[in-house]
Amino acid sequence: MAALIDYSKLYSDGLPDPAAKWAPFPKYYFVGGNNDPEEIPIEGLVEAAASVLRREGSKLAIYNLGMGPQGYPNLRQFVADKSRAQRGIPASIDDIVITTGSGQGLDMISRLLVNPGDTVLCEEFCYQGALNRFRKLGAKIEGMKLDGDGIVIDALAQQLADLKAKGITPKFIYTIPTIQNPTASILPLDRRHGLIKLARDYNVAIFEDECYADLLWEGVEAPPALYALDPGCVIHLGSFSKCLAPALRLGYIIAEWEIMRRLLPLKGDSGTGALDQMIVAEYFSKNFNQHLGHLNGVLHDKLKAMVEAVEREFGASAECWAPKGGIFLWIKLPEGIDTRKLMKPAAEAGIIFNEGPAWAVSPHNSSNHLRLCFAMPSKQVIRDGVAAFAQVCYEQTGIPLRSANVQRA
Ligand SMILES: Cc1ncc(COP(=O)(O)O)c(C=O)c1O
Repeated sequence: MAALIDYSKLYSDGLPDPAAKWAPFPKYYFVGGNNDPEEIPIEGLVEAAASVLRREGSKLAIYNLGMGPQGYPNLRQFVADKSRAQRGIPASIDDIVITTGSGQGLDMISRLLVNPGDTVLCEEFCYQGALNRFRKLGAKIEGMKLDGDGIVIDALAQQLADLKAKGITPKFIYTIPTIQNPTASILPLDRRHGLIKLARDYNVAIFEDECYADLLWEGVEAPPALYALDPGCVIHLGSFSKCLAPALRLGYIIAEWEIMRRLLPLKGDSGTGALDQMIVAEYFSKNFNQHLGHLNGVLHDKLKAMVEAVEREFGASAECWAPKGGIFLWIKLPEGIDTRKLMKPAAEAGIIFNEGPAWAVSPHNSSNHLRLCFAMPSKQVIRDGVAAFAQVCYEQTGIPLRSANVQRA
């Protein structure tokens, strides 16, 4: 057999680090935006698939179903209807492109806007995937201060003024205003108006990521999307990963045509999977509200199980941010604990979690934080996993003090 070509000498410059071999999930897997396997509406999707395939299946013979690069019109119509009803967004289907997960949308918008050296403002605790993308394109990231209601507008006003004094105009503000990742807060209406005013005053664009906006606890109301308040200032991103299934890889961007026409050439594939789009449009155009109401009830129950477990196992040593929806809990441990140092011993005990600095602009105010995702594991796995994690934490740091805990069962 001929010798293998030495590919390692042929690779292009600037490649990412090589991938590790995939390993099955450990027992206590508290990372990743996964959904609850019990909540995939299998029979409904089967029926939807049969009906849409019988009606329109022959169109699969043609790239983009012969309907253009923005995606299956019925799915765009569903996105337009849902965005109008629930987020106040007055978009037509021409303002919408379906993407291969909202991750592809993030790539497209980042590529559209970021030049090396640009300053980008992100919430001080922020989705790692967005931070990584902006950094990869050479952006300098500045953190915006957060409290339990999201971006602190007075602090942002001061920050923008300070940047201006140094001659810096940030390119855009990246924000997750409705169920922020990782703090799960909702930005109130007055702050939304304040944010838009600042963006207008300083000529800074807003990139709004509403990946989790469907996942609200019963009785929780979210103000209109930033896009609804000022479409000329905002590019809006959404996803079907969290309200239905991340493995489907469906997301969307809403933007005015002048921006959309520059985004579309950046899509870089020959269309997002059309069968997935057809099935989801068929299913959700009849069942969305009912599906979501049930899913949110299940997720809220799991959150309660997790918060109870954290309180029981960590006592006063853990402070939880109070989620208003979503699939994750952001937890602060006492000063001096570095959650990065807990990763390895936790993994040895079968526990995977997100350490704070990976979900933050700076390690300085996040190294004692961590994120736990609760949608995929069962309530019993949540209880056992949090107990196992508290044990690891105690062995490594002496915290939580066992006496600080309420009585153990
Ligand atoms: C805030 C945010 N935006 C975007 C994404 C990308 O999700 P997807 O590509 O599955 O739509 C995620 C994933 O967890 C996220 O948390």
